[in-house]
Amino acid sequence: MLFAALSCLLLGIGTPSFGADTAWFKEAKFGLFIHWSPSSMWGTEIMDPRRSMPRKEFETAAMRFDPRDFNAKSWVRLAKQAGMRYIVFTAKHHDGFCMFDSALTDFKITKTPSRRDVLAELARACREEGMPLGIYYSLIDWHHPDFLGKDAPPGAWAPKARPALWPRYARYVREQVRELSTKYGEVAVFWFDGGRLSFTLEDWGYPEIFAMIRRLQPKALINDRTLLPGDFSTWEQLIPEPGQPQGPAPHELCLTIGTTWGYSRTDRNFKSAEFLISRLAKAAGRGANLLLNVGPMPSGRIQPEFEERLLAVGDWLKANGEAVYGTSAGPLGYAPQSDVQYVSTAKDGVVYLHLLRVPKSWWLRVRAPGLRVRRARLLEGGAAVTFWQLGENLLLRLPRPGSMVIELLLRAP
Ligand code: GLC
Repeated sequence: MLFAALSCLLLGIGTPSFGADTAWFKEAKFGLFIHWSPSSMWGTEIMDPRRSMPRKEFETAAMRFDPRDFNAKSWVRLAKQAGMRYIVFTAKHHDGFCMFDSALTDFKITKTPSRRDVLAELARACREEGMPLGIYYSLIDWHHPDFLGKDAPPGAWAPKARPALWPRYARYVREQVRELSTKYGEVAVFWFDGGRLSFTLEDWGYPEIFAMIRRLQPKALINDRTLLPGDFSTWEQLIPEPGQPQGPAPHELCLTIGTTWGYSRTDRNFKSAEFLISRLAKAAGRGANLLLNVGPMPSGRIQPEFEERLLAVGDWLKANGEAVYGTSAGPLGYAPQSDVQYVSTAKDGVVYLHLLRVPKSWWLRVRAPGLRVRRARLLEGGAAVTFWQLGENLLLRLPRPGSMVIELLLRAP
């Protein structure tokens, strides 16, 4: 590693590449995030010892988790129908409950009446369907006594307060990551969370954990929520405005459909399918992926409101996927202000102009300096779109109202 870094420096080829090959990830553009644990039984956002529920009560009830309708295949098939190209699943969320058969704890799914190793079933279904599977692992753990400290009062969950316990917790994390790296087949992504709290690199033992992942799962990408640079950067709920910190590319925007990550019985604040499609297009317009989240119900089913929306995005992608998959950020100025109606993506000499909102007039003026358009047509249906190029402006006469993707074939440079 040191040798590689030194030779890169001497040869003047810049920083050595951090890790695994991100090509598939950059092409995939759209993935399914799944937040699931016994916390879904309460139908409120995940259990948190700082909130009202006593830890013991949560833990006793969690061991009665029995998701009888869980069917990994149907999840994976839904993701496929939605046009998603990878899945990231919470093997362990902040509540500390393991949705896999860890030998290091009894606070796990295989000790509940269901006895099923959910992660193993999901990994098998993904393998059968050719779907890359990523593993989310929270470095926060509201159950583990070495993280919280035994009898920790609410609010004292930061392990900094208990330095003596820290190496033991770091070991627990490392050994669980080892289990996840060896028992579930190929892992496409390690999606860590909670590791950017005010701890140090050494506290977490990240360098060792990363080195181990590289050895055991050389193709796995690691996200940026530790204190080391990752293979990709994560955005949460919002696409940063240009000028705001965004982390190095590639980027991934994770987004809830409702308000919460885990299942909520009361939340009805669902984003519409149109909104989700526009977020997918906006993310792609910035060269980023969208990791769209569902929180399955305690039964294991995905609620109908989520299913409907995923299928609607899938239908849109059937007609317009070419403008998303495998594209990079487009050349037509991306201005994320709310009054802007379009974003663009690009691939192989074609620019895709995504009109996200119905323009008031049927004429659209796009600033397109340096772009020489040969032909313009609707991606869906192929109807020609009349256009003029005047100086740096591209004028398009829209054939119909509504959102649409216009394919702009460019003249050879
Ligand atoms: C936030 C939430 C966490 C969730 C994560 C996903 O950090 O606190 O529960 O898993 O977002 O990005």
